[in-house]
Amino acid sequence: MPRHVAVIMDGNGRWAQARGRPRLYGHHAGAKRVREIVEACPDFGVEYLTIFAFSTENWKRTQAEVSGLMRLFRRYLTREAQALFESGVRVRFIGDRVRLDETLVRMMDELELMTAGNSRVHLTVALNYGGRDEVARATKRLAREVAAGRLDPETVDETTLARFLDTYVLPDPDLVIRTSGEARISNFLLWQSAYAEYEFVDTLWPDFTRAEFARVVTGFASRERRFGAVLG
Ligand code: IPE
Ligand code: IPE
Ligand code: MG
Repeated sequence: MPRHVAVIMDGNGRWAQARGRPRLYGHHAGAKRVREIVEACPDFGVEYLTIFAFSTENWKRTQAEVSGLMRLFRRYLTREAQALFESGVRVRFIGDRVRLDETLVRMMDELELMTAGNSRVHLTVALNYGGRDEVARATKRLAREVAAGRLDPETVDETTLARFLDTYVLPDPDLVIRTSGEARISNFLLWQSAYAEYEFVDTLWPDFTRAEFARVVTGFASRERRFGAVLG
């Protein structure tokens, strides 16, 4: 079974459009799905679940959609914090917090702190996250260490750079699932997914059930991962 599953939760807008409703209606329906998938993780041996909630490119959407999403995140954190804590979920956030509003950032910090003692499932929410942005921010921090004389550039290798990424405490994802039929990565976990298996499913995120999650995660077991080697 995959130890770390990452999900690109895509298709909320199309789900709403198909019902003649505004895109935000789809985002609300999508948010409701999250708990079901988080709860399913321990049953399938999934220890880490990372979900893509908002990308560094999603700011290009209309002001109404962006502010609606930000409101939804704040409301979601308010409503779900206690339940997440009680079900043993440890919550972390990755992405650049600088562009997020103060209230939201405070809620993110509080939830991380509140659930820091949990370990049943490690839920990581990627919010204002972009893989290239993450590598750029990591490089900036690394360069500062070099400039300050605390890091010898000659010693920099993959492990060094990985330590500066937002995901430094997480194992690499074993399986990346994208819903809604799009077969692209859209800047998600670029560095970390070097050897991940990908699964693209047609289901729109608000329709993605525990049963489908189970099917995809179970299917992972039959894949042969070679990591560049020749297996005998
Ligand atoms: C994914 O659903 C959620 C976010 C990007 C916030 P979309 O909003 O991208 O839905 P589609 O792809 O337009 O259907
Ligand atoms: C990726 O979906 C981002 C999230 C799911 C949060 P998008 O809908 O933004 O990606 P593109 O634009 O189709 O590549
Ligand atoms: Mg989309």
